[in-house]
Amino acid sequence: MSRLLWYPGHELILADIVRAQGCYLYDAAGKRYVDLESGVWCASLGHAHPRIIRAIEEQQRAVAHTGFNFGSPVAEETGGELLALHGFEGGRCVFLCSGSEAVEYGVRVARMLIDRPLLMTMADSYFGAYGSAWGRSEEEWFSFDWFPCASCPHEGECDEGCERWRSIPFERISGFLFEPGSSSGLVRFPPEKLIRNIYRAVRGGGGLILVNEVTTGIGRTGRWFGYQHYDIEPDIVAMGKGLGNGYPVSATVFSPRASELLGDREIKYAQSHQNDPLGAAVAREVIRTIKEEGLIERGARMGEVLIEGLRSLAARSAAGDQVRGRGLMAGVSLGGEADSARAVRVHRALIERGFVVCLRPGAGVLRIDPPLTVAREDIEGFLGTFEDVLRNA
Ligand SMILES: Cc1ncc(COP(=O)(O)O)c(C=O)c1O
Repeated sequence: MSRLLWYPGHELILADIVRAQGCYLYDAAGKRYVDLESGVWCASLGHAHPRIIRAIEEQQRAVAHTGFNFGSPVAEETGGELLALHGFEGGRCVFLCSGSEAVEYGVRVARMLIDRPLLMTMADSYFGAYGSAWGRSEEEWFSFDWFPCASCPHEGECDEGCERWRSIPFERISGFLFEPGSSSGLVRFPPEKLIRNIYRAVRGGGGLILVNEVTTGIGRTGRWFGYQHYDIEPDIVAMGKGLGNGYPVSATVFSPRASELLGDREIKYAQSHQNDPLGAAVAREVIRTIKEEGLIERGARMGEVLIEGLRSLAARSAAGDQVRGRGLMAGVSLGGEADSARAVRVHRALIERGFVVCLRPGAGVLRIDPPLTVAREDIEGFLGTFEDVLRNA
C-alpha cells in the first residue's frame, strides 16, 4: 500500500511513472503511455518542455523566492503580459500557487468591492478544494441549476415570464462566478443565451463578473480563455493549471474597472509564495511559448480532429455514447450499464494499451485533454485503439 494519501475516487493505476517527455509518460519498465490528460489538465505544452526547463533553471539561479518586502521585475512584467491577454491593461494581478487559491482570492476581493450578500454561480461548477467557493453556504451563495435551460424552447431572451429566471435574486447578488465549461469535470458547457442574460442582469445592476479559467484557460478550449466563447467581458479572472505547465503557479487578474473599485484598499491575504519570481518566470515562458509557437491555433485544429473523430466513433456505437467538447477538452459519456462498469473496463483497457485518459469517478465519463502540442498521429492512434476497445468492452 502507498504511504501517500491520494485523491478519493481515483484508483492508483500507474504507480511507477519515472519519466515524462512531451506527450509521453514512461514507467519503470520503460513502457510508454500517451498522456491524453496533460496530468490534471496542467502540462499543456507537454512534459519537460525545454523552454520551461530553461526558464526554471535561469530563474532559480537568479532569484526564485523573495519575501513580503521585495518585488521582482519578472513578476511585474509577467503580470503585465497576463493582463494584456485579457485586454486588462491598467488592471492588477497577483500570482499564487493553486487554482483553488486563485478563485478564492477573486471571491474574497469581490465581496470587498460590492456590498451585497450573495455571489451567484452554477450549481454544478467546481472551484477548488477549499474555501467559500468550495463550501458555498446558502448565506453567501446562490446556486443556479442551468440544465433545464439547455433545452428551453423560449426563443427570446430570458425574462420575467420564466419562473426559473424570476427565482434569481439579482437585487441581492454582488457578482456572478462563471465556470465556462467542465461542470464538475463532466465536460458540459452552459448555454450562450443564458450566460449573456445573466451577464447583462448582474452587470446592469452594478455587480461583478468573475470567471474561473483554471481548467478552461490558457488555450484548453481552442481560444486563450473559455469565456471568449461567450459575449462577455469579465472583471476578475482566476487562472492556474496550464499557466505553470505542471509547476504550481496560479494568478488572479483584475480589470481596470475592478482595480478602480479596489482603489488603495488593502486585500488582507498573504501567503509565502505570493508573487514569487520563479512562478512568474514559468508563467511568462508558458505565455511566450504559446504565442511564438502558435499553440492556441494548433490546439484548436487538433481539437477538431479529436472531437470529430470521437463523434464519428459515438455515431457508430450501439451503446448510446455521447461526446461533448470544445478545443482540446473532450468528454465521452459512455452509455450502457447504469453502474458505469463499462466505463471502468474501457478506461483500464485504454491505459493497458498505452493511452492515459481520465475516468470521472462514478459518472461513466472519460475525459480527454491532451497537451496543445499533441501529435496528430497520437490522436489518430488513440481513436483507432478506442474504437477497438469499445467494440470489445
Ligand atoms: C474548474 C476548476 N477550478 C478550480 C480547480 C482547483 O485548482 P487546483 O486543483 O489547482 O487548486 C480545479 C481543479 O481541478 C478545476 O478543475
